[in-house]
Amino acid sequence: MNLSKIWLSSPHMGGNEIKYINTAFDENWIAPLGPNVNGFEQDLKDFIGNGKEVAALSSGTAAIHLALIQLGVGLGDEVLCQSFTFSASANPITYQGAKPVFIDSEKQTWNMCPKALKEGIEARIKHGKKPKAIIVVHLYGMPALMDEIMELSTQYNIPVIEDAAEALGSTYKNQKCGTFSNFGILSFNGNKIITTSGGGALVCSSEETKKKAVFYATQSRDDAPHYQHSHIGYNYRLSNISAGIGRGQMEVLEEHIELRRKMHFFYKDLFASIEGIQVFEEPNADFYSNHWLSAITVNPELTNGINREDLRLAFEKENIESRPLWKPMHMQPIFKDCPYYGGNVAKSLFNEGLCLPSGSNLTDEDRNRISNVIKKIFN
Ligand SMILES: Cc1ncc(COP(=O)(O)O)c(C=O)c1O
Repeated sequence: MNLSKIWLSSPHMGGNEIKYINTAFDENWIAPLGPNVNGFEQDLKDFIGNGKEVAALSSGTAAIHLALIQLGVGLGDEVLCQSFTFSASANPITYQGAKPVFIDSEKQTWNMCPKALKEGIEARIKHGKKPKAIIVVHLYGMPALMDEIMELSTQYNIPVIEDAAEALGSTYKNQKCGTFSNFGILSFNGNKIITTSGGGALVCSSEETKKKAVFYATQSRDDAPHYQHSHIGYNYRLSNISAGIGRGQMEVLEEHIELRRKMHFFYKDLFASIEGIQVFEEPNADFYSNHWLSAITVNPELTNGINREDLRLAFEKENIESRPLWKPMHMQPIFKDCPYYGGNVAKSLFNEGLCLPSGSNLTDEDRNRISNVIKKIFN
């Protein structure tokens, strides 16, 4: 039997992407920048609202880096960062010669725990250094506890960068993720809810900060007819071709969100009668997740000993991709010497959790194959 692979999350084109690319070719807008970049930025700006400006960049990682630069993070500074995330949330801190300080998650949203954050802020201040920024992540599309996080940000006067790489379209109290603080970031990497093949965006609070981001992203060219530079620059802008894909993807974003959410409800049904398996879901009506990835936690004490790894291997046997939840940053060899505040929430999520196929392009046949694995293992 040669079954095709069911991926966790694969690119899903709407059809019109090629139209925007062809227009770029017809007009010879192959060089960076051009009408697709402006159009994509406008589409994103209209979508996220809240008076935000958007700079289209080559990746979400680049967007975090430019946010840190604009917040003045430099050599020897400390930045508080959610531990339970992908390494790209934390890596740019080190690009600036700064040090990450990791914070545990809470159990409701799996995102930054406000109690641990407060503990971390106070401990670092006592230690002699007030952190320069807070990086909070809306992981798997689930909005973080933004009221509590922003309250601490105001109380201690530490700016927040919202990593909404996985959360385009998610809302907290009807406000889009990525728009709560001075800077938000988005990713259009190949596995995200929409993709530009590779790309990202910085969500800014003013025209001025957007302009600054674009300045740094295009090698920090001073306003002169010759090449003049007073700052270190980067080559971080999104190309006009990639932005063309983005414009086509924006036409199907709402539909992709609906389809990802449908996958979440499919798993809710599938696991409804299986004791010991918890499907990750919104804590209450304040939270609206795009359910970029559907995820479960498995408690072997309630499943007759079946654990996360047993499930992952059963899926693998049927050529179905699933993956353990993110390994927390404070447990990663590269960050082992960084300070950490909190308990074992992120660690136990890593031990017990599994991400399941969640793409907006999955078919009924794919869902049947997934169901059959679960039925077989639990019968
Ligand atoms: C939580 C999170 N932050 C940051 C990134 C970085 O985005 P990019 O791959 O576009 O650099 C990603 C995805 O790759 C991510 O999942």
